Amino acid sequence: MDMTTSRVDDSFRKDVRRCFEKQTFAIPARWLYDRRGSELFEDITELPEYYPTRTETELLKANGPAFAAFVGQDRAVIEFGSGSSTKTPHLLKAIEPAAYVPIDISGEFLEHSASLLQEEFPELPIYAVEADFMKRVALPEAVADMPKLGFFPGSTIGNMIARTSVDLLRFMRETLGEGAQLLIGFDRIKDVQTLIDAYDDSAGVTAQFSLNLLHRINRELDGNIPVEQFRHKAVWNDLYARIEIYLEAQADVDFSIAGDDYSLRKEQKIHIENSHKYGLRDARLMLRAGGWTPLQEWSDEKDYFTLMLVEAHPLKHAP
Ligand code: AVJ
Repeated sequence: MDMTTSRVDDSFRKDVRRCFEKQTFAIPARWLYDRRGSELFEDITELPEYYPTRTETELLKANGPAFAAFVGQDRAVIEFGSGSSTKTPHLLKAIEPAAYVPIDISGEFLEHSASLLQEEFPELPIYAVEADFMKRVALPEAVADMPKLGFFPGSTIGNMIARTSVDLLRFMRETLGEGAQLLIGFDRIKDVQTLIDAYDDSAGVTAQFSLNLLHRINRELDGNIPVEQFRHKAVWNDLYARIEIYLEAQADVDFSIAGDDYSLRKEQKIHIENSHKYGLRDARLMLRAGGWTPLQEWSDEKDYFTLMLVEAHPLKHAP
């Protein structure tokens, strides 16, 4: 436990130092999710402007029989970054799996949500795995011989740049093996105002979620960043088809982190998150680049969000 905590601290410190020392002015989005950040994200999912969670949950609820038809019974469901596992019951009810393996980097969260799920599905074998799913994950022996279904909802893949997404898809293929299927959520390209509103809500919850990163630096890395001098900013980058989130200094600011002094000029921005949006063909091509063959797709009637079911076919050589 101590080891884990200090290793996390070290890489957080390293990433924050790189931001200000090497002047990358970017901090990886994973650091948004401390306890407070995870709570704020849960709040975001309930905002009227934040359509993704609601839309994807509806898709999961509405298409159970279709999932069952494609997926069949008795697969082991492997969820990547399971978090609070709130969408999982809808899938589990639809397909009657043989086992459930939630993978998450936060062990605490994992045990809690696994035990809640166990209450709801008393007969289902659940094997929680605490691991970083951005690398190859060793699955429990008990599921080794079961056919697998990966589950990666929430458009979490949207946080990653294309090459990282493809790396992850390839890792997932290695983890799950040939013949596996994967059900993955993509947030679609749509009118820009709808996108901006989803990432800059009128109640200011998303702003709090972003600014919590600065509070976290102050709390955990002995910083004194004047958080009230920063503003959350969501921008649509059309060339990259993504929402970019920044924290922008509203004045020249001086502060220190772990004894090191830094300063930012007025209007200097720190890039803290990307949320990529996809056309259907974009998503299919990226999946194929990662070794996954498209099987079926489910979208809502506004085409705001799409669940894609893909399969790890044996690799064929080009004709
Ligand atoms: C958890 C990455 C899917 O990009 O929509 C929501 C994160 N950030 N509002 C997203 C997020 C600000 C979210 N993902």
